[in-house]
Amino acid sequence: RTKYLKIDPLVPELHKIRLAARILNRGGVVAFPTETVYGLGANALDGRAVRRIFRAKGRPADNPLIVHIASFRDVQDLVAYLPPRATLLMQRFWPGPLTLVLPRGDLIPDIVTAGLDTVGIRMPAHPVAQALIRVARLPIAAPSANISGRPSPTTGQHVLKDLRGKIDAVVDGGPATVGVESTVLDLTTPVPTILRPGGVTYEDLKAVLGEVAIDPAVRGSQVAQPRAPGMKYKHYAPRGEVYLITGELDRVTAKIRALVAAWQQRGCRVAVLATRETAAAYQQEPRPDYLEVLGSRSQPATIAANLFSALRNCDRHRADIILAETIAEEGLGLAIMNRLRKSAANRIIHA
Ligand code: TXA
Ligand code: MG
Repeated sequence: RTKYLKIDPLVPELHKIRLAARILNRGGVVAFPTETVYGLGANALDGRAVRRIFRAKGRPADNPLIVHIASFRDVQDLVAYLPPRATLLMQRFWPGPLTLVLPRGDLIPDIVTAGLDTVGIRMPAHPVAQALIRVARLPIAAPSANISGRPSPTTGQHVLKDLRGKIDAVVDGGPATVGVESTVLDLTTPVPTILRPGGVTYEDLKAVLGEVAIDPAVRGSQVAQPRAPGMKYKHYAPRGEVYLITGELDRVTAKIRALVAAWQQRGCRVAVLATRETAAAYQQEPRPDYLEVLGSRSQPATIAANLFSALRNCDRHRADIILAETIAEEGLGLAIMNRLRKSAANRIIHA
């Protein structure tokens, strides 16, 4: 049975945090909110507890987990050494949606890092995540709390849908505000390299570091051995087949409308993921079976916050085909397009 704990996200009730912390201290697995997405946590120093995470998610063993901490002091114990620019980034972006890949210390069991000689560490900004780490007095290893390959969960309900009965507890602190996962930045290379774009943008990092590289896998290049092992798997996939439609905006809406008609003709249920600027184009015939307006193109933060639940909504509406517009790959747009491209398994149609 999975315990369900509804909690106040701003002022978490201490007795509920204590209960969840006790489960973690006994080697259990607990889903909890962070500002990015919900995580599925276990004691990062206990290999057996961490194995339960992999089992519950059906996660491939070669995909390492991020270790979550709540105070700057905790980093020292988890890494072999701290490069000076790590300290700079921690001061600027922690707590927040930035994961630093650092040379791994001896305390971390192999299963957490999937045998790599590096470890990903982040300090989440969410009060519930912070309270849980503090009260449990543990570093918490936590991937996103979804079944492997499904869209990441941004609500407690998403977690229950995927993992009810498979984990010890869900702490439900309401919807995650950022909506896409943390940026994964490798600091073990001569030039810091973004392995996964996320809540902290390339532009933010560049302003602090001067030089930042972006791993080619981020923009969809098919590489045999991406450096964030997680980037090679099918990801963020709803049951329907996702297609990205790209090009000049007027042509995109026209193309999507034509595709809606064509697929409906063949008996498919079609969903469209649109933006505020284009929504009206789909509110006339041919009407998609489901329309989700993610937000305004001028506010990518809203689009990011809605993205994963939109993909799950398409499932609830039993969409066979999901047609999504692309957005500019600047700021948060880089993370949004990365997730969309992966959910579409690189099916891209040029309008
Ligand atoms: O926002 C987030 O990062 C969320 C919340 C729960 O913190 N967590 C999350 O974890 O998204 P997960 O496991 O779903 O994604 C972690 C990504 C994977 O692509 C993994 O391969 C990469 O980070 N990663 C973790 N440790 C790494 C390492 N040592 N070297 C390279 N990539 C690493
Ligand atoms: Mg994940």
